[in-house]
Amino acid sequence: MTPLNLTLLLGAFTIMTTNCSSNHVAGREFGKTPSGEAVELYALKNAKGVEGDISTYGGVLVALKVPDHAGALGDIVLGFDDFQGYQIPPPYFGAIVGRYGNRIAHARFTLGGVEYNLAKNDGDNTLHGGKRGFDKVLWTAKNATGHSLELAYLSKDGEEGYPGNLSVTVTYTLTDNNELKIDYSATTDKDTVVNLTNHSYFNLAGQGEGDILGHELILNADRYTPVDKGLIPTGELRSVAGTPFDFRQPHAIGERIGSSDEQIALGGGYDHNFILNRTGDGLSLAARVTEAKSGRALEVFTTEPAIQFYTGNFLDGTIRGKGGKVYGRRSAFCLETQHYPDSPNQPSFPSTVLKPGAVYRTTTVYRFSTT
Ligand code: GLA
Repeated sequence: MTPLNLTLLLGAFTIMTTNCSSNHVAGREFGKTPSGEAVELYALKNAKGVEGDISTYGGVLVALKVPDHAGALGDIVLGFDDFQGYQIPPPYFGAIVGRYGNRIAHARFTLGGVEYNLAKNDGDNTLHGGKRGFDKVLWTAKNATGHSLELAYLSKDGEEGYPGNLSVTVTYTLTDNNELKIDYSATTDKDTVVNLTNHSYFNLAGQGEGDILGHELILNADRYTPVDKGLIPTGELRSVAGTPFDFRQPHAIGERIGSSDEQIALGGGYDHNFILNRTGDGLSLAARVTEAKSGRALEVFTTEPAIQFYTGNFLDGTIRGKGGKVYGRRSAFCLETQHYPDSPNQPSFPSTVLKPGAVYRTTTVYRFSTT
Protein backbone atom coordinates (compact mmCIF):
# COMPACT_ATOMS: atom_id res chain seq x y z
CA MET A 1 0.00 0.00 0.00
CA THR A 2 1.35 3.41 -0.97
CA PRO A 3 1.63 6.11 1.72
CA LEU A 4 -1.14 8.03 -0.11
CA ASN A 5 -3.49 5.04 0.01
CA LEU A 6 -2.69 4.52 3.67
CA THR A 7 -3.46 8.17 4.44
CA LEU A 8 -6.78 7.93 2.57
CA LEU A 9 -7.67 4.73 4.38
CA LEU A 10 -6.82 6.20 7.77
CA GLY A 11 -8.80 9.32 6.86
CA ALA A 12 -11.85 7.25 5.93
CA PHE A 13 -11.49 5.23 9.14
CA THR A 14 -11.37 8.44 11.21
CA ILE A 15 -14.55 9.77 9.55
CA MET A 16 -16.27 6.42 10.12
CA THR A 17 -15.36 6.22 13.78
CA THR A 18 -16.27 9.87 14.35
CA ASN A 19 -19.71 9.28 12.84
CA CYS A 20 -20.15 6.03 14.72
CA SER A 21 -19.23 7.53 18.07
CA SER A 22 -21.54 10.54 17.63
CA ASN A 23 -24.11 8.20 16.07
CA HIS A 24 -26.45 11.10 15.31
CA VAL A 25 -29.96 9.99 14.49
CA ALA A 26 -31.77 12.55 12.35
CA GLY A 27 -34.92 14.31 13.46
CA ARG A 28 -37.94 14.83 11.24
CA GLU A 29 -39.48 18.13 10.22
CA PHE A 30 -42.12 19.29 12.69
CA GLY A 31 -42.83 22.66 11.10
CA LYS A 32 -41.39 26.08 10.38
CA THR A 33 -41.15 29.10 12.65
CA PRO A 34 -42.82 32.32 11.39
CA SER A 35 -39.34 33.42 10.25
CA GLY A 36 -38.92 30.23 8.21
CA GLU A 37 -36.55 28.23 10.40
CA ALA A 38 -37.04 24.48 10.39
CA VAL A 39 -38.33 22.95 13.61
CA GLU A 40 -37.35 19.32 14.13
CA LEU A 41 -38.91 16.52 16.11
CA TYR A 42 -36.70 13.81 17.59
CA ALA A 43 -38.05 10.42 18.59
CA LEU A 44 -36.58 8.62 21.59
CA LYS A 45 -37.35 4.99 22.29
CA ASN A 46 -36.15 2.54 24.94
CA ALA A 47 -35.79 -1.25 24.86
CA LYS A 48 -39.27 -1.66 26.36
CA GLY A 49 -40.99 0.33 23.63
CA VAL A 50 -41.53 3.52 25.66
CA GLU A 51 -41.45 6.50 23.33
CA GLY A 52 -40.84 10.21 23.68
CA ASP A 53 -40.93 12.96 21.05
CA ILE A 54 -38.99 16.17 21.57
CA SER A 55 -39.16 19.33 19.51
CA THR A 56 -36.22 21.66 18.94
CA TYR A 57 -38.72 24.52 19.43
CA GLY A 58 -38.80 25.14 23.19
CA GLY A 59 -37.24 21.72 23.81
CA VAL A 60 -40.86 20.64 24.13
CA LEU A 61 -41.67 17.09 25.17
CA VAL A 62 -44.45 16.71 22.60
CA ALA A 63 -45.45 13.12 23.41
CA LEU A 64 -44.59 10.48 25.99
CA LYS A 65 -46.04 7.01 25.56
CA VAL A 66 -45.81 4.69 28.55
CA PRO A 67 -47.54 1.35 29.30
CA ASP A 68 -50.63 0.86 31.46
CA HIS A 69 -51.21 -2.22 33.66
CA ALA A 70 -52.09 -4.27 30.54
CA GLY A 71 -48.98 -3.11 28.69
CA ALA A 72 -50.88 -0.78 26.35
CA LEU A 73 -48.97 2.39 25.52
CA GLY A 74 -50.77 5.68 26.13
CA ASP A 75 -49.61 9.25 25.56
CA ILE A 76 -49.64 10.86 28.99
CA VAL A 77 -48.60 14.47 28.23
CA LEU A 78 -50.70 17.32 26.86
CA GLY A 79 -49.60 18.96 23.63
CA PHE A 80 -50.27 19.34 19.92
CA ASP A 81 -49.94 17.11 16.86
CA ASP A 82 -48.16 19.77 14.85
CA PHE A 83 -45.90 22.71 15.45
CA GLN A 84 -48.63 25.26 14.61
CA GLY A 85 -50.47 24.20 17.77
CA TYR A 86 -47.66 25.62 19.89
CA GLN A 87 -48.13 29.15 18.47
CA ILE A 88 -50.76 30.11 21.08
CA PRO A 89 -50.40 32.12 24.30
CA PRO A 90 -48.39 29.73 26.36
CA PRO A 91 -49.66 27.14 28.73
CA TYR A 92 -45.97 26.01 28.35
CA PHE A 93 -47.01 22.45 27.43
CA GLY A 94 -43.94 20.20 27.80
CA ALA A 95 -41.47 23.05 27.39
CA ILE A 96 -38.07 23.79 28.86
CA VAL A 97 -38.61 26.84 31.02
CA GLY A 98 -35.91 29.46 31.61
CA ARG A 99 -33.84 31.50 32.11
CA TYR A 100 -35.81 31.71 35.34
CA GLY A 101 -38.67 29.27 35.87
CA ASN A 102 -41.66 30.66 37.80
CA ARG A 103 -42.07 34.24 39.01
CA ILE A 104 -39.82 37.15 39.88
CA ALA A 105 -41.69 39.92 41.68
CA HIS A 106 -42.11 43.26 39.91
CA ALA A 107 -39.95 41.83 37.10
CA ARG A 108 -36.74 43.09 38.67
CA PHE A 109 -33.89 42.09 40.89
CA THR A 110 -30.55 43.49 42.04
CA LEU A 111 -27.30 41.61 41.63
CA GLY A 112 -23.84 42.98 42.45
CA GLY A 113 -25.39 46.40 43.09
CA VAL A 114 -26.99 46.59 39.61
CA GLU A 115 -30.76 46.57 39.14
CA TYR A 116 -31.97 44.42 36.25
CA ASN A 117 -35.41 45.02 34.75
CA LEU A 118 -37.07 42.06 33.12
CA ALA A 119 -39.96 41.64 30.71
CA LYS A 120 -43.34 41.80 32.49
CA ASN A 121 -45.57 39.00 31.23
CA ASP A 122 -47.65 38.16 34.30
CA GLY A 123 -49.23 41.35 35.59
CA ASP A 124 -46.46 43.29 37.27
CA ASN A 125 -44.25 40.20 37.47
CA THR A 126 -42.13 38.14 35.14
CA LEU A 127 -43.05 34.48 34.64
CA HIS A 128 -41.09 31.58 33.13
CA GLY A 129 -38.31 33.65 31.55
CA GLY A 130 -40.37 36.52 30.16
CA LYS A 131 -42.09 37.24 26.84
CA ARG A 132 -39.79 34.99 24.84
CA GLY A 133 -38.45 32.51 27.33
CA PHE A 134 -36.62 29.27 26.59
CA ASP A 135 -39.99 27.67 25.75
CA LYS A 136 -40.22 29.86 22.61
CA VAL A 137 -36.72 29.66 21.20
CA LEU A 138 -35.17 27.24 18.76
CA TRP A 139 -32.69 24.87 20.38
CA THR A 140 -29.88 23.15 18.46
CA ALA A 141 -29.98 19.36 18.49
CA LYS A 142 -26.39 18.35 19.20
CA ASN A 143 -26.39 14.66 19.78
CA ALA A 144 -29.29 12.35 19.09
CA THR A 145 -28.74 8.66 19.72
CA GLY A 146 -32.30 7.36 19.49
CA HIS A 147 -32.55 7.10 23.26
CA SER A 148 -31.10 10.48 24.20
CA LEU A 149 -31.04 13.97 22.77
CA GLU A 150 -28.82 16.89 23.70
CA LEU A 151 -30.21 20.37 23.07
CA ALA A 152 -28.16 23.55 23.23
CA TYR A 153 -29.12 27.21 23.40
CA LEU A 154 -27.13 30.40 23.87
CA SER A 155 -29.15 33.03 25.70
CA LYS A 156 -27.50 36.36 24.92
CA ASP A 157 -26.47 38.94 27.50
CA GLY A 158 -29.52 41.17 28.06
CA GLU A 159 -32.08 38.72 26.63
CA GLU A 160 -35.40 39.38 28.40
CA GLY A 161 -33.39 41.68 30.68
CA TYR A 162 -31.11 39.02 32.20
CA PRO A 163 -27.36 39.67 32.50
CA GLY A 164 -24.69 37.42 30.98
CA ASN A 165 -24.35 35.20 27.94
CA LEU A 166 -25.78 31.95 29.25
CA SER A 167 -24.80 28.78 27.44
CA VAL A 168 -27.37 26.08 28.22
CA THR A 169 -27.48 22.36 27.53
CA VAL A 170 -30.46 20.15 28.26
CA THR A 171 -30.21 16.40 27.68
CA TYR A 172 -33.26 14.16 27.56
CA THR A 173 -32.56 10.43 28.06
CA LEU A 174 -35.05 7.58 27.97
CA THR A 175 -33.57 4.75 30.05
CA ASP A 176 -34.46 1.08 29.84
CA ASN A 177 -35.92 1.38 33.37
CA ASN A 178 -38.74 3.45 31.88
CA GLU A 179 -37.28 6.70 33.14
CA LEU A 180 -37.17 10.02 31.37
CA LYS A 181 -34.08 11.74 32.71
CA ILE A 182 -33.46 15.43 32.11
CA ASP A 183 -29.99 16.84 32.75
CA TYR A 184 -29.65 20.61 32.72
CA SER A 185 -26.36 22.49 32.64
CA ALA A 186 -25.36 26.10 32.08
CA THR A 187 -22.41 28.45 32.24
CA THR A 188 -22.28 32.24 32.13
CA ASP A 189 -19.77 35.01 31.45
CA LYS A 190 -21.34 37.45 33.96
CA ASP A 191 -23.12 36.97 37.31
CA THR A 192 -26.72 35.99 36.58
CA VAL A 193 -29.66 33.98 37.96
CA VAL A 194 -30.78 30.61 36.59
CA ASN A 195 -33.70 28.32 37.38
CA LEU A 196 -34.45 25.75 34.69
CA THR A 197 -37.30 23.26 34.63
CA ASN A 198 -39.59 21.30 32.35
CA HIS A 199 -43.28 22.18 32.18
CA SER A 200 -44.88 18.89 31.15
CA TYR A 201 -48.59 18.52 31.85
CA PHE A 202 -49.28 14.91 32.86
CA ASN A 203 -52.48 12.92 32.84
CA LEU A 204 -51.67 9.30 33.67
CA ALA A 205 -55.03 8.13 32.30
CA GLY A 206 -53.92 9.53 28.93
CA GLN A 207 -53.85 13.06 27.52
CA GLY A 208 -57.35 14.47 27.13
CA GLU A 209 -58.90 11.69 29.25
CA GLY A 210 -60.77 13.88 31.74
CA ASP A 211 -59.49 15.60 34.86
CA ILE A 212 -56.72 14.50 37.22
CA LEU A 213 -58.68 14.99 40.45
CA GLY A 214 -58.81 11.24 41.13
CA HIS A 215 -55.04 10.75 40.74
CA GLU A 216 -53.37 9.98 44.08
CA LEU A 217 -50.35 12.07 45.02
CA ILE A 218 -47.51 11.89 47.50
CA LEU A 219 -45.27 14.95 47.88
CA ASN A 220 -42.15 14.50 49.95
CA ALA A 221 -42.44 17.95 51.51
CA ASP A 222 -42.99 19.10 55.10
CA ARG A 223 -43.21 22.76 54.08
CA TYR A 224 -44.28 24.98 51.23
CA THR A 225 -43.99 28.65 50.33
CA PRO A 226 -47.34 30.45 50.72
CA VAL A 227 -48.03 33.17 48.16
CA ASP A 228 -49.68 36.57 47.83
CA LYS A 229 -52.36 37.35 45.27
CA GLY A 230 -49.76 37.67 42.50
CA LEU A 231 -48.55 34.13 43.37
CA ILE A 232 -45.28 35.55 44.72
CA PRO A 233 -43.95 33.78 47.86
CA THR A 234 -44.47 35.86 50.98
CA GLY A 235 -41.13 34.61 52.36
CA GLU A 236 -42.74 32.36 54.96
CA LEU A 237 -41.88 28.65 54.95
CA ARG A 238 -45.14 27.15 56.21
CA SER A 239 -45.70 23.65 57.58
CA VAL A 240 -48.12 21.56 55.52
CA ALA A 241 -49.37 19.78 58.67
CA GLY A 242 -53.13 19.93 59.06
CA THR A 243 -53.63 21.72 55.70
CA PRO A 244 -54.73 20.66 52.18
CA PHE A 245 -51.02 20.93 51.29
CA ASP A 246 -50.13 17.85 53.32
CA PHE A 247 -49.43 15.13 50.73
CA ARG A 248 -46.91 13.25 52.87
CA GLN A 249 -49.44 10.43 52.89
CA PRO A 250 -51.25 9.72 49.59
CA HIS A 251 -54.32 11.84 48.88
CA ALA A 252 -56.44 12.22 45.77
CA ILE A 253 -55.49 15.52 44.14
CA GLY A 254 -59.15 16.58 44.20
CA GLU A 255 -59.86 15.61 47.79
CA ARG A 256 -59.14 19.03 49.30
CA ILE A 257 -58.83 21.20 46.18
CA GLY A 258 -62.21 22.81 46.90
CA SER A 259 -61.29 23.68 50.48
CA SER A 260 -61.74 27.18 51.85
CA ASP A 261 -58.02 27.39 52.67
CA GLU A 262 -56.87 30.90 51.75
CA GLN A 263 -53.85 29.56 49.82
CA ILE A 264 -55.98 27.22 47.72
CA ALA A 265 -58.20 30.20 46.88
CA LEU A 266 -55.19 32.33 45.87
CA GLY A 267 -53.88 29.59 43.57
CA GLY A 268 -57.30 28.73 42.14
CA GLY A 269 -56.31 25.22 43.29
CA TYR A 270 -52.75 24.01 43.75
CA ASP A 271 -50.14 26.30 42.20
CA HIS A 272 -47.48 26.27 44.90
CA ASN A 273 -43.83 25.61 45.55
CA PHE A 274 -43.21 22.69 47.91
CA ILE A 275 -39.89 22.50 49.76
CA LEU A 276 -38.54 18.99 49.40
CA ASN A 277 -37.34 16.90 52.31
CA ARG A 278 -33.87 16.05 51.13
CA THR A 279 -30.81 14.23 52.37
CA GLY A 280 -27.59 15.00 50.53
CA ASP A 281 -27.12 16.56 47.14
CA GLY A 282 -28.07 13.67 44.86
CA LEU A 283 -31.35 12.57 43.33
CA SER A 284 -34.04 12.34 45.94
CA LEU A 285 -37.71 11.37 45.75
CA ALA A 286 -39.93 14.42 45.31
CA ALA A 287 -43.33 13.02 44.29
CA ARG A 288 -45.28 9.91 43.44
CA VAL A 289 -48.54 9.91 41.48
CA THR A 290 -50.78 6.95 40.69
CA GLU A 291 -53.92 6.58 38.59
CA ALA A 292 -56.15 3.64 39.47
CA LYS A 293 -57.81 2.83 36.15
CA SER A 294 -54.68 2.68 33.99
CA GLY A 295 -52.53 1.48 36.88
CA ARG A 296 -49.85 3.94 35.78
CA ALA A 297 -47.49 5.39 38.37
CA LEU A 298 -45.06 8.28 38.08
CA GLU A 299 -42.24 8.99 40.49
CA VAL A 300 -40.21 12.18 40.32
CA PHE A 301 -36.63 12.33 41.60
CA THR A 302 -34.60 15.50 41.54
CA THR A 303 -31.45 17.24 42.69
CA GLU A 304 -33.49 20.46 43.07
CA PRO A 305 -34.61 21.81 46.46
CA ALA A 306 -38.27 22.33 45.52
CA ILE A 307 -41.15 21.46 43.20
CA GLN A 308 -44.04 23.51 41.84
CA PHE A 309 -47.25 21.50 41.99
CA TYR A 310 -49.73 23.04 39.55
CA THR A 311 -53.13 21.53 38.81
CA GLY A 312 -53.85 23.11 35.44
CA ASN A 313 -56.18 25.67 37.00
CA PHE A 314 -55.83 28.03 34.04
CA LEU A 315 -56.86 25.44 31.45
CA ASP A 316 -60.46 26.19 30.55
CA GLY A 317 -61.47 23.87 27.70
CA THR A 318 -60.67 26.38 24.95
CA ILE A 319 -57.57 24.44 23.85
CA ARG A 320 -57.93 21.41 21.61
CA GLY A 321 -54.80 19.31 21.71
CA LYS A 322 -53.54 16.07 20.20
CA GLY A 323 -56.19 14.05 18.41
CA GLY A 324 -58.65 16.95 18.89
CA LYS A 325 -58.90 16.29 22.64
CA VAL A 326 -60.33 19.15 24.69
CA TYR A 327 -58.13 20.23 27.58
CA GLY A 328 -60.49 21.25 30.37
CA ARG A 329 -59.73 22.79 33.74
CA ARG A 330 -57.48 20.50 35.78
CA SER A 331 -57.11 17.99 32.98
CA ALA A 332 -53.42 17.63 33.86
CA PHE A 333 -50.94 18.32 36.63
CA CYS A 334 -47.41 19.71 36.48
CA LEU A 335 -44.55 18.85 38.80
CA GLU A 336 -41.91 21.44 38.01
CA THR A 337 -38.66 20.73 39.83
CA GLN A 338 -37.01 24.02 40.65
CA HIS A 339 -35.55 26.55 43.08
CA TYR A 340 -38.12 28.66 44.91
CA PRO A 341 -39.97 31.36 42.95
CA ASP A 342 -38.67 34.91 43.38
CA SER A 343 -35.37 33.70 44.90
CA PRO A 344 -33.42 36.63 43.37
CA ASN A 345 -35.42 38.95 45.67
CA GLN A 346 -35.54 36.69 48.73
CA PRO A 347 -32.09 36.36 50.33
CA SER A 348 -33.28 33.70 52.79
CA PHE A 349 -34.14 31.30 49.91
CA PRO A 350 -31.47 28.99 48.40
CA SER A 351 -29.48 31.04 45.91
CA THR A 352 -30.10 30.92 42.15
CA VAL A 353 -27.03 33.00 41.33
CA LEU A 354 -24.60 31.57 38.76
CA LYS A 355 -21.13 33.09 38.46
CA PRO A 356 -18.57 32.84 35.67
CA GLY A 357 -16.39 29.77 36.13
CA ALA A 358 -19.12 27.80 37.93
CA VAL A 359 -21.35 25.22 36.25
CA TYR A 360 -25.08 25.06 36.90
CA ARG A 361 -26.07 21.38 36.95
CA THR A 362 -29.37 19.80 37.92
CA THR A 363 -31.06 16.50 37.11
CA THR A 364 -34.67 15.37 37.27
CA VAL A 365 -35.90 11.83 36.63
CA TYR A 366 -39.51 10.89 35.84
CA ARG A 367 -39.86 7.15 36.44
CA PHE A 368 -42.88 5.29 35.08
CA SER A 369 -44.21 1.98 36.33
CA THR A 370 -47.54 0.30 37.00
CA THR A 371 -49.22 -0.46 40.31
C1 GLA B 1 -46.78 27.64 36.33
C2 GLA B 1 -47.33 28.71 37.18
C3 GLA B 1 -48.80 28.80 36.99
C4 GLA B 1 -49.11 29.02 35.52
C5 GLA B 1 -48.51 27.91 34.72
C6 GLA B 1 -48.68 28.14 33.24
O1 GLA B 1 -46.96 26.40 36.83
O2 GLA B 1 -47.01 28.55 38.54
O3 GLA B 1 -49.30 29.87 37.75
O4 GLA B 1 -48.62 30.25 35.09
O5 GLA B 1 -47.15 27.80 34.98
O6 GLA B 1 -49.97 28.44 32.89
